[in-house]
Amino acid sequence: MSNKSNKLWSGRFTKSSSIDDFHSSIDVDSRMIREDIMGSAAHAKMLAAQGIISREDAAAITEELQRILASFEEGKIVFSSSDEDIHMFIESLLTQRIGDAGKRLHTGRSRNDQVALDCRIYLIKGANETIQRLFKLEEALLHTAQTYLNTIMPGYTHMQKAQPISLAHYLMAYFEMFRRDVERLYSCKSRMDSMPLGSGALAGSTYPLDRESVKQALGFSGITRNSIDAVSDRDFCIEYASCASIIMMHLSRFCEELILWSTDEFGFVDIDEAYSTGSSIMPQKKNPDAAELIRGKTGRVYGDLFALLTIMKGLPLAYNKDMQEDKEAVFDAMNTVNNCLEVFLKMFATLRFNTHKMYDSAQRGFINATDAADYLSKKGVPFREAHEAIGKMVLYCIEHEKAIEALTLEEFKLFSSTFEEDIYNEITLEACINGRSLPGGTAPAAVKMHISEGLKWLDAQNKNIPDSSL
Ligand code: ARG
Repeated sequence: MSNKSNKLWSGRFTKSSSIDDFHSSIDVDSRMIREDIMGSAAHAKMLAAQGIISREDAAAITEELQRILASFEEGKIVFSSSDEDIHMFIESLLTQRIGDAGKRLHTGRSRNDQVALDCRIYLIKGANETIQRLFKLEEALLHTAQTYLNTIMPGYTHMQKAQPISLAHYLMAYFEMFRRDVERLYSCKSRMDSMPLGSGALAGSTYPLDRESVKQALGFSGITRNSIDAVSDRDFCIEYASCASIIMMHLSRFCEELILWSTDEFGFVDIDEAYSTGSSIMPQKKNPDAAELIRGKTGRVYGDLFALLTIMKGLPLAYNKDMQEDKEAVFDAMNTVNNCLEVFLKMFATLRFNTHKMYDSAQRGFINATDAADYLSKKGVPFREAHEAIGKMVLYCIEHEKAIEALTLEEFKLFSSTFEEDIYNEITLEACINGRSLPGGTAPAAVKMHISEGLKWLDAQNKNIPDSSL
């Protein structure tokens, strides 16, 4: 306790701390080592170009940083919690190895703008990874939808059979959700894409730093416009966690349906054994664990988003140490969403749809009742009256245990004299589907157009696919 601290910032301290572990974030932020080194190298080169440090010092710094990175990649770097964070760790290692030159690296820089930089670079890479995984899923959805354009299944509202849809149309609903997720990530990335170095601790810097050249060297599109904001902003973490939460919400809805559909009661789909587990007591069980875990991990990502929002709530400007807690949450959100997308995609590729069961199920539940009402309405019966007549007819069908299409024409006429022989053609499942041919509807022709538009979109994205770098 009484020994003087040996920290890089210990000038004004007379004692060492007994809570180094508590202060330390290296367990979490060491994963930004590549980004930290990249940022430091760009900063050192700029300092030399501006005549703030010598070219020899800058060369020594950048060479040693490369060596540190190489030893890290070889697994030779050991972090300990006495290393407060990745930034202090790299700087002290550098100084141990190259002496005074290492001590000059932090000129015109603060850990506050440094951590903002590292996080931005790291999250841009993570968001690119998420986008790439979404593209793969979109591709799989489009191709599967092409196979099932004419596969009829019941569509539900309130979990009650509503109207027939095609399996392709159902799959394309998820295609749209994940397309919005991609667009959200692009938008979120555009706000991460500002280079914060030069903001210093909070007020900017008195050195003649060249922010533009650092921006260019690191591949950013712009520089941050206000030094106070640049070091205290974590909106970009919150936005990423929010994008991740929405993706997880979409995955969890999809998973929930696959779980339901794989039950004996539905039997619409068979989830491959590779994504299921057995029971330790019930020999017959094949549980859809992977889908359940994805559904469960959605809660965890929401938790990360809420942790971030709560950490930032009410924080006075500018940097506060509270903000060190951001990384655990945002990194967890990133790991989880990226893993879940990968597992989901693999599971999806092995699904076997039981199209007969789907068709069978669509034949029950008076799923063509809307079409029977539309039949009357198109022949001049006011829709509300038609609705009432078919409602009564459904009641009659329930009492007589008959499907609507199984009624005789005489029975139809009990509910409206407008019914003629052509009613039978109008209420087949195929007619119900084919009739909904407006853009966005479930008719195979409409879904085909949707799929080809989707393929074009994906193709345009693929030309521009972000790699995982900045
Ligand atoms: N480890 C810190 C964080 O992640 C880095 C910034 C620390 N700055 C400071 N002045 N204590 O937030």
